[in-house]
Amino acid sequence: MSFSQDLYLKALTFAANAHGEQKTPIGLPYIVHVSSVAMEVMAALRAEPGGDEDLALVCALLHDVVEDTGTLPSELEAAFGRRVADGVSALTKDPSLAKPTAMRDSLDRILRQPAEVAMVKLADRITNLAPPPPQWRAEKISAYRAEAVLIADTLGAASALLAARLRQRIARYGR
Ligand code: NI
Repeated sequence: MSFSQDLYLKALTFAANAHGEQKTPIGLPYIVHVSSVAMEVMAALRAEPGGDEDLALVCALLHDVVEDTGTLPSELEAAFGRRVADGVSALTKDPSLAKPTAMRDSLDRILRQPAEVAMVKLADRITNLAPPPPQWRAEKISAYRAEAVLIADTLGAASALLAARLRQRIARYGR
């Protein structure tokens, strides 16, 4: 693997500051989610070398900062460059759209980005298909599973390893 450790730490620190006190649905500091997504991407890059590892890992670490914090794409561009800002923007759902439409719209924008950006989306959903929070109802769980199938079908070509892991998680999810 060849990625910049300095850049990785810069992105991790940026994400930690941006997410601040935000927690995951099970109450962990949000940076645990972000780090888990980066770890999934790293494992895939090790198994399937090639591609822009810095782009993949930095987008993984920053993938939720625009959607979940006040961070603007222009701030990402200033700190990490245009490709990262464009990648994170594609990974950000448009809040003006209804839920299913917003996911489809984001997936369409991800498809127009380098494959590294699609890898981040696959890794994000692998991470999010851990056992659902106890308060989630059956309909919400099955909708979330259906959305994961759409992600695997739409973006799976970006990484055979991540697509296989996502399909494994889908098969086990909510059982
Ligand atoms: Ni996420």
